[in-house]
Amino acid sequence: MDLFGKSLLDFHLKNPKPLFFKIGDNKFERDVSQYFRRDIKLFSQEELELFTLCNGRTLDIGSGTCNYHFLMKSDVVGIDNSTYLNQIAKDFNAKTINSDIYNFNSDHKFDSFCILGNSLGLGGSLENVLNLIFKIKDLSTPGASAYIIQKDISAPYETYDIEIEYNNFTEKIQWLSINRFYLMELLNSLNIKSEVLSVSSGNYLLRIYNF
Ligand SMILES: C[S@@+](CC[C@H](N)C(=O)[O-])C[C@H]1O[C@@H](n2cnc3c(N)ncnc32)[C@H](O)[C@@H]1O
Repeated sequence: MDLFGKSLLDFHLKNPKPLFFKIGDNKFERDVSQYFRRDIKLFSQEELELFTLCNGRTLDIGSGTCNYHFLMKSDVVGIDNSTYLNQIAKDFNAKTINSDIYNFNSDHKFDSFCILGNSLGLGGSLENVLNLIFKIKDLSTPGASAYIIQKDISAPYETYDIEIEYNNFTEKIQWLSINRFYLMELLNSLNIKSEVLSVSSGNYLLRIYNF
């Protein structure tokens, strides 16, 4: 159904309706304007740092509206499985691939990867975090790095259902958050290196390299 993508497209087409997320007992309205930021002042320090760190051919995984690509100097292409969001990205003159990242293959490898907005957890399970890491490894040039911004949590990791409510329809998706030390241990056990570049406002910026 892709209610998230549809709500953002309606907002983009100036026909906004409220979007609600319910996580456990907590139901709240999601402010979709954050996916349409066009002013550099609206981005966090971590995000601005990530934008400058990406270099060469860059793949932005779970790119959404790509509203931040204008701040990136590298040759960036987004990948997102939402046709609605890729339609918005096109209006922002961003390059995107309409595909599920897990099914994506390419002969052209990438020098950098970025994952913003807690999106390492988009597969909704620890197994899918590993699948995503292996996918990045497959798509990497020698010496490539991935830069991710994740919400930090105290538990090693946490999976949760998000019930999305929009325009009288509901849909459930699964998401995951992961603690930075736990993620680094996991990567270390795969002989993949990582370093925390900064931590602030409950988020961490991690570089993953030596795939
Ligand atoms: C939280 S949003 C982040 C969007 C953008 N990176 C940002 O920070 O504004 C997560 C994005 O991941 C996309 N997504 C979820 N599962 C995906 C998958 N399996 N393959 C590709 N994209 C996916 C969603 O459509 C959504 O646009």
